[in-house]
Amino acid sequence: MTHILCIGAGYVGGPTMAVIAEKCPDITVTVVDINQDKIAAWNSDNLPIFEPGLPAVVERARGRNLFFSTDIPNAIRTADIIFVSVNTPTKTFGAGAGMAADLQYFEKTARQILQYANGPKIVVEKSTLPVRTAVAMERILNANGQQFEVLSNPEFLAEGTAIQDLYQPDRVLIGGKDTESGRAAVEKLASVYLHWVPNERIIRTNVWSSELSKLAANAFLAQKISSINAISAICEKTEANVSEVAHAIGQDRRIGSRFLNASVGFGGSCFKKDILNLVYLCQTYGLHEVAEYWHQVVKLNEYQTKRFVDNILTQLFQTVSGKKIALFGFAFKANTGDTRESAAIYVARQLIEERAELSICDPQALLNAQKDLAGYEHQIEYSKDPYRAAQGAHAIAILTEWPEFQTLDYKKIYESMEKPAFLFDGRNLLDHRLLFELGFNVFPIGRPSLRHY
Ligand code: UDX
Ligand code: UDX
Repeated sequence: MTHILCIGAGYVGGPTMAVIAEKCPDITVTVVDINQDKIAAWNSDNLPIFEPGLPAVVERARGRNLFFSTDIPNAIRTADIIFVSVNTPTKTFGAGAGMAADLQYFEKTARQILQYANGPKIVVEKSTLPVRTAVAMERILNANGQQFEVLSNPEFLAEGTAIQDLYQPDRVLIGGKDTESGRAAVEKLASVYLHWVPNERIIRTNVWSSELSKLAANAFLAQKISSINAISAICEKTEANVSEVAHAIGQDRRIGSRFLNASVGFGGSCFKKDILNLVYLCQTYGLHEVAEYWHQVVKLNEYQTKRFVDNILTQLFQTVSGKKIALFGFAFKANTGDTRESAAIYVARQLIEERAELSICDPQALLNAQKDLAGYEHQIEYSKDPYRAAQGAHAIAILTEWPEFQTLDYKKIYESMEKPAFLFDGRNLLDHRLLFELGFNVFPIGRPSLRHY
Protein backbone atom coordinates (compact mmCIF):
# COMPACT_ATOMS: atom_id res chain seq x y z
CA MET A 1 0.00 0.00 0.00
CA THR A 2 1.31 3.44 -0.92
CA HIS A 3 1.63 5.95 1.92
CA ILE A 4 1.25 9.62 1.10
CA LEU A 5 2.15 12.35 3.55
CA CYS A 6 1.34 16.02 3.18
CA ILE A 7 3.17 18.55 5.34
CA GLY A 8 0.97 21.65 5.73
CA ALA A 9 -2.77 21.35 6.37
CA GLY A 10 -3.88 24.67 4.90
CA TYR A 11 -6.21 25.77 2.11
CA VAL A 12 -4.19 23.78 -0.41
CA GLY A 13 -2.94 20.75 1.54
CA GLY A 14 -6.22 19.95 3.31
CA PRO A 15 -8.67 19.81 0.37
CA THR A 16 -6.12 18.28 -2.02
CA MET A 17 -5.32 15.41 0.30
CA ALA A 18 -8.97 14.88 1.19
CA VAL A 19 -9.79 14.39 -2.50
CA ILE A 20 -6.77 12.13 -3.11
CA ALA A 21 -7.87 9.97 -0.16
CA GLU A 22 -11.45 9.86 -1.36
CA LYS A 23 -10.49 8.89 -4.90
CA CYS A 24 -7.75 6.43 -3.91
CA PRO A 25 -9.04 4.04 -1.22
CA ASP A 26 -5.93 1.89 -1.75
CA ILE A 27 -3.62 4.72 -0.62
CA THR A 28 -3.12 5.88 2.96
CA VAL A 29 -3.00 9.67 3.20
CA THR A 30 -1.72 11.46 6.29
CA VAL A 31 -1.73 15.23 6.69
CA VAL A 32 0.45 16.88 9.33
CA ASP A 33 0.89 20.44 10.46
CA ILE A 34 2.91 22.23 13.12
CA ASN A 35 -0.29 23.93 14.22
CA GLN A 36 -1.98 21.55 16.68
CA ASP A 37 -5.23 23.50 16.79
CA LYS A 38 -5.55 23.20 13.03
CA ILE A 39 -5.07 19.44 13.15
CA ALA A 40 -7.62 19.18 15.96
CA ALA A 41 -10.07 21.13 13.80
CA TRP A 42 -9.45 18.84 10.80
CA ASN A 43 -10.32 15.94 13.11
CA SER A 44 -13.55 17.60 14.26
CA ASP A 45 -16.89 18.49 12.67
CA ASN A 46 -15.74 22.07 12.52
CA LEU A 47 -13.09 22.10 9.78
CA PRO A 48 -10.53 24.94 9.92
CA ILE A 49 -11.52 26.29 6.48
CA PHE A 50 -14.86 26.92 4.80
CA GLU A 51 -14.98 25.28 1.39
CA PRO A 52 -18.23 24.12 -0.26
CA GLY A 53 -18.41 20.32 -0.45
CA LEU A 54 -15.31 19.76 1.66
CA PRO A 55 -16.97 18.44 4.84
CA ALA A 56 -18.64 15.60 2.92
CA VAL A 57 -15.37 14.61 1.24
CA VAL A 58 -13.51 14.60 4.56
CA GLU A 59 -16.26 12.61 6.22
CA ARG A 60 -16.13 9.90 3.57
CA ALA A 61 -12.38 9.35 3.87
CA ARG A 62 -11.36 10.39 7.39
CA GLY A 63 -10.49 7.43 9.61
CA ARG A 64 -10.63 5.12 6.57
CA ASN A 65 -7.50 6.16 4.66
CA LEU A 66 -7.27 9.86 5.54
CA PHE A 67 -5.60 10.88 8.79
CA PHE A 68 -4.73 14.25 10.31
CA SER A 69 -1.87 14.13 12.78
CA THR A 70 0.84 16.14 14.52
CA ASP A 71 3.28 13.23 14.71
CA ILE A 72 5.53 14.53 11.95
CA PRO A 73 8.55 12.21 12.54
CA ASN A 74 6.53 9.03 12.35
CA ALA A 75 4.56 10.24 9.35
CA ILE A 76 7.80 11.00 7.50
CA ARG A 77 9.22 7.55 8.27
CA THR A 78 6.26 5.66 6.84
CA ALA A 79 5.63 7.81 3.75
CA ASP A 80 6.59 6.89 0.18
CA ILE A 81 5.50 10.22 -1.31
CA ILE A 82 5.75 13.46 0.69
CA PHE A 83 3.89 16.54 -0.50
CA VAL A 84 5.19 19.81 0.91
CA SER A 85 2.40 22.34 1.14
CA VAL A 86 3.66 24.79 3.73
CA ASN A 87 3.20 28.49 3.19
CA THR A 88 5.75 30.53 1.26
CA PRO A 89 4.77 34.13 2.03
CA THR A 90 6.42 37.21 0.59
CA LYS A 91 9.65 37.97 2.43
CA THR A 92 9.37 40.83 4.90
CA PHE A 93 13.06 41.25 5.66
CA GLY A 94 16.51 41.30 4.06
CA ALA A 95 17.27 40.83 0.38
CA GLY A 96 14.14 40.81 -1.76
CA ALA A 97 11.93 42.06 1.10
CA GLY A 98 8.40 42.76 -0.17
CA MET A 99 8.98 40.69 -3.33
CA ALA A 100 10.83 37.42 -3.01
CA ALA A 101 9.31 34.30 -1.48
CA ASP A 102 10.26 33.54 2.10
CA LEU A 103 11.50 29.99 1.89
CA GLN A 104 12.37 29.46 5.54
CA TYR A 105 9.44 27.12 6.25
CA PHE A 106 10.08 25.24 3.08
CA GLU A 107 13.75 24.67 3.84
CA LYS A 108 12.99 23.76 7.44
CA THR A 109 10.57 21.16 6.17
CA ALA A 110 13.19 19.71 3.81
CA ARG A 111 15.61 19.36 6.72
CA GLN A 112 12.92 17.72 8.82
CA ILE A 113 12.31 15.18 6.06
CA LEU A 114 16.04 14.50 5.93
CA GLN A 115 16.21 14.06 9.70
CA TYR A 116 13.46 11.46 9.98
CA ALA A 117 13.45 9.67 6.63
CA ASN A 118 14.82 6.16 6.69
CA GLY A 119 14.84 5.32 3.00
CA PRO A 120 14.31 6.74 -0.49
CA LYS A 121 11.26 8.93 -0.94
CA ILE A 122 9.60 11.09 -3.51
CA VAL A 123 9.28 14.67 -2.31
CA VAL A 124 6.67 16.77 -4.11
CA GLU A 125 6.61 20.56 -4.12
CA LYS A 126 2.96 21.49 -3.81
CA SER A 127 3.55 25.02 -2.56
CA THR A 128 4.16 27.61 -5.24
CA LEU A 129 7.86 28.32 -5.32
CA PRO A 130 10.42 30.35 -7.18
CA VAL A 131 11.85 28.60 -10.20
CA ARG A 132 14.81 26.36 -9.33
CA THR A 133 13.73 25.72 -5.73
CA ALA A 134 13.57 21.99 -6.45
CA VAL A 135 17.28 21.97 -7.17
CA ALA A 136 18.03 23.57 -3.82
CA MET A 137 15.69 21.16 -2.11
CA GLU A 138 17.37 18.21 -3.77
CA ARG A 139 20.79 19.40 -2.65
CA ILE A 140 19.65 19.60 0.95
CA LEU A 141 17.88 16.26 0.82
CA ASN A 142 20.65 14.37 -0.90
CA ALA A 143 23.45 15.97 1.13
CA ASN A 144 24.31 12.78 2.98
CA GLY A 145 23.96 10.35 0.15
CA GLN A 146 20.28 9.37 0.48
CA GLN A 147 18.15 9.13 -2.64
CA PHE A 148 15.25 11.53 -2.84
CA GLU A 149 13.50 12.45 -6.05
CA VAL A 150 12.09 15.96 -6.00
CA LEU A 151 9.05 16.65 -8.19
CA SER A 152 7.11 19.83 -8.82
CA ASN A 153 3.34 19.37 -8.81
CA PRO A 154 1.74 22.80 -8.45
CA GLU A 155 -1.88 23.05 -7.39
CA PHE A 156 -4.28 25.05 -9.54
CA LEU A 157 -7.41 24.85 -7.38
CA ALA A 158 -9.24 28.09 -6.67
CA GLU A 159 -10.84 28.63 -3.29
CA GLY A 160 -14.61 28.40 -3.25
CA THR A 161 -14.52 25.82 -6.07
CA ALA A 162 -11.66 23.70 -4.72
CA ILE A 163 -13.50 20.39 -4.67
CA GLN A 164 -14.80 20.73 -8.22
CA ASP A 165 -11.37 21.90 -9.41
CA LEU A 166 -9.76 18.86 -7.79
CA TYR A 167 -12.38 16.43 -9.12
CA GLN A 168 -12.11 17.72 -12.66
CA PRO A 169 -8.84 19.57 -13.11
CA ASP A 170 -8.14 21.22 -16.48
CA ARG A 171 -4.75 19.59 -16.10
CA VAL A 172 -2.41 18.08 -13.56
CA LEU A 173 1.16 19.25 -13.97
CA ILE A 174 4.10 17.12 -12.88
CA GLY A 175 7.68 18.28 -13.34
CA GLY A 176 10.54 15.85 -12.84
CA LYS A 177 14.09 15.09 -13.89
CA ASP A 178 14.74 13.42 -17.21
CA THR A 179 16.61 10.49 -15.65
CA GLU A 180 15.49 6.93 -15.12
CA SER A 181 14.66 7.50 -11.45
CA GLY A 182 13.17 10.91 -12.25
CA ARG A 183 10.83 9.46 -14.87
CA ALA A 184 9.86 6.63 -12.52
CA ALA A 185 9.01 9.13 -9.78
CA VAL A 186 6.86 11.15 -12.21
CA GLU A 187 4.96 8.00 -13.19
CA LYS A 188 4.52 6.98 -9.56
CA LEU A 189 2.89 10.34 -8.80
CA ALA A 190 0.90 10.23 -12.05
CA SER A 191 -0.48 6.84 -10.98
CA VAL A 192 -2.09 8.54 -7.97
CA TYR A 193 -3.95 11.07 -10.15
CA LEU A 194 -4.79 8.41 -12.73
CA HIS A 195 -7.29 7.04 -10.22
CA TRP A 196 -9.65 9.76 -11.49
CA VAL A 197 -7.87 12.09 -13.95
CA PRO A 198 -7.58 10.98 -17.62
CA ASN A 199 -3.99 10.46 -18.72
CA GLU A 200 -4.23 13.12 -21.45
CA ARG A 201 -4.84 15.72 -18.75
CA ILE A 202 -1.61 14.85 -16.95
CA ILE A 203 1.18 17.02 -18.28
CA ARG A 204 4.76 15.87 -17.71
CA THR A 205 7.48 18.52 -18.00
CA ASN A 206 10.89 19.26 -16.63
CA VAL A 207 10.99 20.63 -13.09
CA TRP A 208 11.65 24.24 -14.03
CA SER A 209 8.85 24.42 -16.58
CA SER A 210 6.48 23.13 -13.95
CA GLU A 211 7.61 25.64 -11.32
CA LEU A 212 7.45 28.49 -13.82
CA SER A 213 4.08 27.42 -15.25
CA LYS A 214 2.43 27.92 -11.89
CA LEU A 215 3.78 31.46 -11.59
CA ALA A 216 2.91 32.15 -15.23
CA ALA A 217 -0.65 30.81 -14.89
CA ASN A 218 -1.39 33.04 -11.92
CA ALA A 219 0.28 36.00 -13.63
CA PHE A 220 -1.85 35.51 -16.77
CA LEU A 221 -5.07 35.17 -14.78
CA ALA A 222 -4.34 38.25 -12.70
CA GLN A 223 -3.29 40.15 -15.80
CA LYS A 224 -6.67 39.46 -17.34
CA ILE A 225 -8.38 41.02 -14.32
CA SER A 226 -6.06 44.02 -14.31
CA SER A 227 -6.71 44.46 -18.03
CA ILE A 228 -10.48 44.60 -17.59
CA ASN A 229 -10.08 46.80 -14.52
CA ALA A 230 -7.97 49.19 -16.58
CA ILE A 231 -10.75 49.24 -19.18
CA SER A 232 -13.30 49.87 -16.38
CA ALA A 233 -11.52 53.12 -15.55
CA ILE A 234 -11.86 54.24 -19.17
CA CYS A 235 -15.53 53.20 -19.16
CA GLU A 236 -16.25 55.42 -16.18
CA LYS A 237 -14.91 58.39 -18.13
CA THR A 238 -16.62 57.63 -21.41
CA GLU A 239 -20.03 56.16 -20.55
CA ALA A 240 -19.06 52.83 -22.06
CA ASN A 241 -20.24 49.89 -19.95
CA VAL A 242 -17.49 47.48 -18.87
CA SER A 243 -19.85 44.51 -18.73
CA GLU A 244 -20.85 45.09 -22.35
CA VAL A 245 -17.21 45.49 -23.34
CA ALA A 246 -16.26 42.31 -21.44
CA HIS A 247 -19.05 40.39 -23.12
CA ALA A 248 -18.13 41.70 -26.55
CA ILE A 249 -14.44 40.87 -26.27
CA GLY A 250 -15.01 37.64 -24.33
CA GLN A 251 -16.94 36.14 -27.24
CA ASP A 252 -13.66 36.04 -29.12
CA ARG A 253 -12.47 32.56 -28.19
CA ARG A 254 -8.88 33.71 -28.37
CA ILE A 255 -9.65 36.01 -25.43
CA GLY A 256 -12.24 33.90 -23.62
CA SER A 257 -15.09 35.07 -21.44
CA ARG A 258 -13.82 34.03 -18.00
CA PHE A 259 -11.91 36.25 -15.59
CA LEU A 260 -13.26 39.40 -17.18
CA ASN A 261 -15.31 40.62 -14.22
CA ALA A 262 -14.19 44.11 -13.35
CA SER A 263 -13.96 44.47 -9.59
CA VAL A 264 -12.70 46.45 -6.65
CA GLY A 265 -9.46 44.53 -7.16
CA PHE A 266 -8.27 40.95 -6.95
CA GLY A 267 -7.18 39.45 -3.64
CA GLY A 268 -6.27 36.03 -2.33
CA SER A 269 -3.09 34.49 -1.08
CA CYS A 270 -1.62 33.76 -4.50
CA PHE A 271 -1.92 36.38 -7.23
CA LYS A 272 0.02 39.22 -5.66
CA LYS A 273 2.56 36.97 -3.96
CA ASP A 274 3.25 34.93 -7.08
CA ILE A 275 3.53 37.91 -9.41
CA LEU A 276 5.93 39.67 -7.06
CA ASN A 277 7.85 36.43 -6.93
CA LEU A 278 8.00 36.43 -10.73
CA VAL A 279 9.04 40.09 -10.76
CA TYR A 280 11.85 39.34 -8.34
CA LEU A 281 12.97 36.39 -10.42
CA CYS A 282 13.11 38.61 -13.53
CA GLN A 283 15.06 41.28 -11.67
CA THR A 284 17.50 38.68 -10.40
CA TYR A 285 18.22 37.68 -14.00
CA GLY A 286 18.52 41.30 -15.15
CA LEU A 287 15.26 41.14 -17.13
CA HIS A 288 14.10 44.56 -15.98
CA GLU A 289 11.58 45.22 -18.78
CA VAL A 290 9.93 41.87 -18.18
CA ALA A 291 9.87 42.54 -14.43
CA GLU A 292 8.23 45.92 -14.99
CA TYR A 293 5.65 44.44 -17.35
CA TRP A 294 4.37 42.01 -14.71
CA HIS A 295 4.76 44.48 -11.87
CA GLN A 296 2.18 46.70 -13.58
CA VAL A 297 -0.45 43.98 -13.04
CA VAL A 298 -0.08 44.39 -9.27
CA LYS A 299 0.20 48.18 -9.45
CA LEU A 300 -2.95 48.46 -11.55
CA ASN A 301 -4.75 46.30 -9.00
CA GLU A 302 -3.71 48.60 -6.16
CA TYR A 303 -4.79 51.59 -8.26
CA GLN A 304 -8.21 50.03 -8.83
CA THR A 305 -8.85 49.57 -5.11
CA LYS A 306 -7.60 53.06 -4.35
CA ARG A 307 -9.85 54.50 -7.05
CA PHE A 308 -12.81 52.79 -5.39
CA VAL A 309 -12.10 54.30 -1.98
CA ASP A 310 -11.33 57.72 -3.46
CA ASN A 311 -14.72 57.67 -5.17
CA ILE A 312 -16.51 56.92 -1.90
CA LEU A 313 -14.81 59.92 -0.34
CA THR A 314 -15.55 62.20 -3.27
CA GLN A 315 -19.20 61.25 -3.49
CA LEU A 316 -19.75 61.54 0.24
CA PHE A 317 -18.89 65.25 0.04
CA GLN A 318 -15.18 64.73 0.80
CA THR A 319 -15.75 63.54 4.34
CA VAL A 320 -16.72 60.26 5.91
CA SER A 321 -15.65 61.30 9.39
CA GLY A 322 -18.20 59.97 11.90
CA LYS A 323 -20.36 58.51 9.10
CA LYS A 324 -21.43 54.90 9.23
CA ILE A 325 -20.47 52.92 6.14
CA ALA A 326 -21.58 49.33 5.67
CA LEU A 327 -19.19 46.93 3.97
CA PHE A 328 -21.08 44.03 2.41
CA GLY A 329 -18.50 41.26 2.09
CA PHE A 330 -14.99 40.96 3.43
CA ALA A 331 -13.77 37.65 1.96
CA PHE A 332 -11.47 38.02 -1.08
CA LYS A 333 -14.13 36.25 -3.17
CA ALA A 334 -17.45 34.51 -2.59
CA ASN A 335 -17.76 31.03 -1.09
CA THR A 336 -14.74 31.28 1.16
CA GLY A 337 -14.00 32.65 4.60
CA ASP A 338 -10.47 33.54 3.50
CA THR A 339 -9.56 37.23 3.62
CA ARG A 340 -5.89 37.08 2.68
CA GLU A 341 -5.03 40.12 0.54
CA SER A 342 -8.73 40.92 0.20
CA ALA A 343 -9.36 44.36 -1.29
CA ALA A 344 -11.74 44.81 1.65
CA ILE A 345 -8.78 45.10 4.04
CA TYR A 346 -7.42 48.10 2.17
CA VAL A 347 -10.87 49.67 1.76
CA ALA A 348 -11.63 49.25 5.48
CA ARG A 349 -8.28 50.64 6.60
CA GLN A 350 -8.55 53.70 4.36
CA LEU A 351 -12.06 54.46 5.57
CA ILE A 352 -10.98 54.01 9.19
CA GLU A 353 -8.11 56.39 8.54
CA GLU A 354 -10.73 58.88 7.37
CA ARG A 355 -12.52 58.27 10.70
CA ALA A 356 -15.55 56.51 9.29
CA GLU A 357 -17.56 54.12 11.49
CA LEU A 358 -17.69 50.76 9.75
CA SER A 359 -20.19 47.95 9.97
CA ILE A 360 -18.89 44.82 8.30
CA CYS A 361 -21.14 42.02 7.14
CA ASP A 362 -19.97 38.70 5.68
CA PRO A 363 -21.49 35.21 5.86
CA GLN A 364 -18.16 33.42 6.45
CA ALA A 365 -15.28 35.84 6.93
CA LEU A 366 -16.07 37.82 10.08
CA LEU A 367 -13.54 36.02 12.28
CA ASN A 368 -10.76 36.63 9.81
CA ALA A 369 -11.91 40.22 9.32
CA GLN A 370 -11.62 40.80 13.06
CA LYS A 371 -8.06 39.52 12.98
CA ASP A 372 -7.18 41.66 9.95
CA LEU A 373 -8.57 44.78 11.59
CA ALA A 374 -7.40 44.13 15.14
CA GLY A 375 -6.85 47.37 17.05
CA TYR A 376 -9.73 49.24 15.38
CA GLU A 377 -12.53 47.69 17.43
CA HIS A 378 -13.86 51.06 18.58
CA GLN A 379 -14.62 52.06 14.98
CA ILE A 380 -16.08 48.79 13.68
CA GLU A 381 -19.07 46.61 14.35
CA TYR A 382 -19.39 43.14 12.87
CA SER A 383 -22.67 41.53 11.94
CA LYS A 384 -23.88 38.59 9.91
CA ASP A 385 -27.13 40.47 9.38
CA PRO A 386 -26.94 42.87 6.41
CA TYR A 387 -30.09 44.74 7.52
CA ARG A 388 -28.50 45.54 10.82
CA ALA A 389 -25.21 46.45 9.17
CA ALA A 390 -26.92 48.94 6.84
CA GLN A 391 -29.15 50.56 9.44
CA GLY A 392 -28.30 54.23 9.80
CA ALA A 393 -25.46 53.99 7.26
CA HIS A 394 -24.71 56.72 4.74
CA ALA A 395 -23.36 54.24 2.23
CA ILE A 396 -23.05 50.55 1.41
CA ALA A 397 -19.98 49.20 -0.35
CA ILE A 398 -20.30 45.76 -1.93
CA LEU A 399 -16.87 44.15 -1.69
CA THR A 400 -17.54 40.42 -2.16
CA GLU A 401 -19.88 38.86 -4.71
CA TRP A 402 -21.83 36.70 -2.21
CA PRO A 403 -25.07 35.66 -3.99
CA GLU A 404 -27.06 36.27 -0.79
CA PHE A 405 -26.51 40.01 -1.22
CA GLN A 406 -28.52 39.86 -4.46
CA THR A 407 -31.75 38.77 -2.86
CA LEU A 408 -31.98 41.26 0.02
CA ASP A 409 -34.90 43.63 0.43
CA TYR A 410 -33.15 46.82 -0.68
CA LYS A 411 -36.30 48.88 -0.20
CA LYS A 412 -36.23 48.03 3.48
CA ILE A 413 -32.49 48.69 3.57
CA TYR A 414 -32.89 52.05 1.82
CA GLU A 415 -35.55 53.15 4.25
CA SER A 416 -33.31 52.38 7.24
CA MET A 417 -30.36 54.41 5.91
CA GLU A 418 -29.34 58.05 6.19
CA LYS A 419 -30.23 60.16 3.14
CA PRO A 420 -28.92 60.71 0.58
CA ALA A 421 -28.11 56.99 0.51
CA PHE A 422 -25.17 55.76 -1.57
CA LEU A 423 -24.32 52.33 -2.87
CA PHE A 424 -20.88 51.53 -4.29
CA ASP A 425 -20.98 48.17 -6.06
CA GLY A 426 -17.37 46.93 -6.19
CA ARG A 427 -18.51 43.70 -7.87
CA ASN A 428 -21.29 44.89 -10.19
CA LEU A 429 -23.39 42.38 -8.34
CA LEU A 430 -26.74 44.13 -8.00
CA ASP A 431 -29.50 45.47 -10.22
CA HIS A 432 -28.40 49.10 -10.38
CA ARG A 433 -31.46 50.48 -12.15
CA LEU A 434 -33.73 48.99 -9.49
CA LEU A 435 -31.60 50.41 -6.68
CA PHE A 436 -31.67 53.81 -8.32
CA GLU A 437 -35.44 53.69 -8.57
CA LEU A 438 -35.60 52.86 -4.87
CA GLY A 439 -33.73 56.10 -4.19
CA PHE A 440 -30.08 55.05 -3.98
CA ASN A 441 -27.28 56.93 -5.69
CA VAL A 442 -25.48 54.05 -7.34
CA PHE A 443 -21.81 53.83 -8.27
CA PRO A 444 -20.87 50.63 -10.12
CA ILE A 445 -17.43 49.67 -11.45
CA GLY A 446 -16.91 50.66 -15.09
CA ARG A 447 -20.51 51.71 -15.72
CA PRO A 448 -22.19 55.08 -15.64
CA SER A 449 -23.24 56.11 -12.14
CA LEU A 450 -26.94 56.59 -11.42
CA ARG A 451 -27.55 59.61 -9.22
CA HIS A 452 -30.44 61.76 -8.12
CA TYR A 453 -28.51 65.01 -8.33
C1 UDX B 1 -0.70 28.95 0.14
C2 UDX B 1 -0.65 28.92 -1.38
O1 UDX B 1 -1.85 28.45 -1.87
C3 UDX B 1 0.49 28.13 -1.85
O2 UDX B 1 0.56 28.07 -3.23
C4 UDX B 1 1.66 28.81 -1.30
O3 UDX B 1 2.82 28.40 -1.85
C5 UDX B 1 1.60 28.67 0.19
O4 UDX B 1 0.49 29.35 0.67
P1 UDX B 1 -2.16 27.57 1.66
O5 UDX B 1 -2.48 26.13 1.82
O6 UDX B 1 -3.25 28.50 1.27
O7 UDX B 1 -1.05 27.68 0.58
O8 UDX B 1 -1.41 28.11 2.96
P2 UDX B 1 -1.89 27.98 4.45
O9 UDX B 1 -3.36 27.83 4.53
O10 UDX B 1 -1.19 29.07 5.19
O11 UDX B 1 -1.29 26.56 4.89
C6 UDX B 1 0.04 26.29 5.15
C7 UDX B 1 0.12 25.37 6.37
O12 UDX B 1 1.47 24.93 6.57
C8 UDX B 1 -0.31 26.05 7.68
O13 UDX B 1 -1.37 25.32 8.26
C9 UDX B 1 0.95 26.00 8.56
O14 UDX B 1 0.67 25.82 9.92
C10 UDX B 1 1.69 24.82 7.96
N1 UDX B 1 3.14 24.82 8.23
C11 UDX B 1 3.87 25.93 7.99
C12 UDX B 1 3.75 23.65 8.68
O15 UDX B 1 3.09 22.64 8.91
N2 UDX B 1 5.10 23.66 8.89
C13 UDX B 1 5.86 24.78 8.70
O16 UDX B 1 7.07 24.74 8.92
C14 UDX B 1 5.22 25.95 8.23
C1 UDX C 1 -6.14 31.57 -7.90
C2 UDX C 1 -6.11 30.78 -9.21
O1 UDX C 1 -7.37 30.92 -9.89
C3 UDX C 1 -5.83 29.31 -8.93
O2 UDX C 1 -5.70 28.59 -10.15
C4 UDX C 1 -4.55 29.20 -8.13
O3 UDX C 1 -4.29 27.86 -7.79
C5 UDX C 1 -4.61 30.04 -6.88
O4 UDX C 1 -4.93 31.41 -7.21
P1 UDX C 1 -7.92 31.93 -5.96
O5 UDX C 1 -7.04 33.05 -5.55
O6 UDX C 1 -8.34 30.95 -4.93
O7 UDX C 1 -7.23 31.09 -7.13
O8 UDX C 1 -9.28 32.53 -6.60
P2 UDX C 1 -9.64 33.20 -8.01
O9 UDX C 1 -10.96 32.69 -8.40
O10 UDX C 1 -8.57 33.08 -9.00
O11 UDX C 1 -9.85 34.74 -7.62
C6 UDX C 1 -8.76 35.56 -7.25
C7 UDX C 1 -9.23 36.98 -7.08
O12 UDX C 1 -9.56 37.57 -8.34
C8 UDX C 1 -10.49 37.14 -6.22
O13 UDX C 1 -10.35 38.27 -5.38
C9 UDX C 1 -11.57 37.33 -7.23
O14 UDX C 1 -12.70 38.02 -6.71
C10 UDX C 1 -10.85 38.16 -8.27
N1 UDX C 1 -11.47 38.10 -9.61
C11 UDX C 1 -11.56 36.91 -10.26
C12 UDX C 1 -11.92 39.27 -10.21
O15 UDX C 1 -11.83 40.36 -9.64
N2 UDX C 1 -12.48 39.19 -11.47
C13 UDX C 1 -12.58 38.01 -12.15
O16 UDX C 1 -13.08 38.03 -13.28
C14 UDX C 1 -12.10 36.83 -11.52
